[in-house]
Amino acid sequence: MKTRITELFGIKHPIIQGGMHYVGFAELAAAVSNAGGLGIITGLTQKTPELLANEIARCRAMTDKPFGVNLTFLPAVNPPDYPGYIKAIIEGGVKIVETAGNNPQKWLPALKEAGIKVIHKCTSVRHALKAESIGCDAISVDGFECGGHPGEDDVPNFILLPRAAEELKIPFVASGGMADGRSLVAALALGAEGMNMGTRFMATKEAPIHENVKQALVAASELDTRLILRPMRNTERVLVNAATERVLEKEKRLGSSIQFADIAPELAGVYPRIMQQGDMDAGVWSCGMVAGLIRDVPSAKELIDRIMAEAEALIAKRLAGMLR
Ligand SMILES: Cc1cc2nc3c(=O)[nH]c(=O)nc-3n(C[C@H](O)[C@H](O)[C@H](O)COP(=O)(O)O)c2cc1C
Repeated sequence: MKTRITELFGIKHPIIQGGMHYVGFAELAAAVSNAGGLGIITGLTQKTPELLANEIARCRAMTDKPFGVNLTFLPAVNPPDYPGYIKAIIEGGVKIVETAGNNPQKWLPALKEAGIKVIHKCTSVRHALKAESIGCDAISVDGFECGGHPGEDDVPNFILLPRAAEELKIPFVASGGMADGRSLVAALALGAEGMNMGTRFMATKEAPIHENVKQALVAASELDTRLILRPMRNTERVLVNAATERVLEKEKRLGSSIQFADIAPELAGVYPRIMQQGDMDAGVWSCGMVAGLIRDVPSAKELIDRIMAEAEALIAKRLAGMLR
């Protein structure tokens, strides 16, 4: 399949694996890229720019295909060493960066000068237009269904994608709720040039996370995510578990007086315990509603091949058949 996204990034299939904290290590990124998609290493999971440089080198040893690095811009009192991370990306020869979390304008000149293509992930048409105006090459349009941070507008992809198609000139992929060939064909029909998946890629053989996390995704239904941090306008969609229930109870009890410190034990530094040790109630963790569509743990290649075969059959047989 050829789309503006496959052309832009030099990939075989229009499928991207979004950055995921403590999931997006070199093993997963390389597996996705080797399968013809675009794998992405999560920059900030590497605690220092030196460690990111090392992770990029590990990924390069595992694939000769294009892969990217995610840079998430978080509001922080002590921000990470972004210039250092960008230097590691440029010196590591990475040619694709996924930005997210905030406007990447400050960092674009350095990235563009190094010939890096930037795909910015955002949850609204206005932020997508801003990203286009400052020179981003593509957008990942992240609908309300998504795992992680869906923003505060709550617009699902059935509305958000056609709205993006009406306004944007640069290509975009659909992100949030994407799982299979049906998702891909629907995304293309709504104007996207491909799709970005997070949660679905966690339940793959190569995702370097604990088996408990993968089995929790297989077991979960579409009813099993919750929105937390809404009172702080930093909404996050997470899988329901004991920690999520504790956060929601505190949000309800403390109302608008809630501070980050009140819920920090459920959030701060919990990812390694969940993703690596498989301690499923250690804290809250991002998960999309798409968990309801995950029933197995294939390899990245099996998953991508299956998606492409299903999408091609849907277009060539089911949809084309309706016109006959
Ligand atoms: C466990 C997990 C961690 C994530 N961490 C990040 C992150 O660090 N930076 C980021 O930009 N997006 C992050 N995301 C969002 C994904 O990149 C992607 O946009 C999202 O998962 C898409 O929705 P889906 O889960 O329905 O596919 C994360 C998602 C999950 C499930």
